[in-house]
Amino acid sequence: MPSSWEVRFCYLHYVFGALFHRRCVTLPVLFAMLSNHYGFLYSGPRNWLVLVFMMLAGALIRQSFVLRHKALATGRPVPWVYAMVGCAVLLVLVFAVAPRPPAPHSAAASALTFAQVQQVFTQRCVMCHNDQLANKGIKFDSAEMIEKNAQAAYQQAVVLKTMPLNNATQITDAERALLKRWFEAGTKISP
Ligand code: HEC
Repeated sequence: MPSSWEVRFCYLHYVFGALFHRRCVTLPVLFAMLSNHYGFLYSGPRNWLVLVFMMLAGALIRQSFVLRHKALATGRPVPWVYAMVGCAVLLVLVFAVAPRPPAPHSAAASALTFAQVQQVFTQRCVMCHNDQLANKGIKFDSAEMIEKNAQAAYQQAVVLKTMPLNNATQITDAERALLKRWFEAGTKISP
């Protein structure tokens, strides 16, 4: 008698085997493996939905290619409709996950010095973005580097909030707001 675990394992093996055999999940699995490089895909509140829809789109597109061989062999039209629906799903997703610019701040801007801004970069970012360790080639260890990478910093730390990575350096909301104000005021590095 097989144990219940053996039965379950055989069942899982069968389901995944069937999916892989049809190669329906090739594209979705590739997507899942690469998605952690693209913050906008998983930084939203409903990131699981993004994954579900990407999986669906990938499987649909793949389905057209799977059926294509059979259709060509039997002289019937290729069922591109799956791929078209898949692409439509992707298109909707593109607009759904597009980062919205944060609402403009209303409070009258109190004086903001570059020293304050640089302090945030030094405390929260330089640890992983300096001469020895420049993740993605980005450094924040000098005023010039901060100015040069201001746009990217704004994107990652203010809009997407994917930096600092896993918030390892515990940046505060107030500090993010400070970077936002500095960016909107034109990223000046003179005090
Ligand atoms: C704990 C380490 C760590 C800290 C702290 C950190 N980063 Fe990063 N940062 C990384 C890593 C790792 C990458 C590369 C990520 C990748 O390959 O997707 C990166 C990439 C980036 C990128 C490039 C993103 C892209 O996809 O082009 C920017 C911009 C950035 N970080 C800005 C910041 C800012 C601004 C701060 C501080 C508020 C910060 N980082 C703090 C580790 C860190």
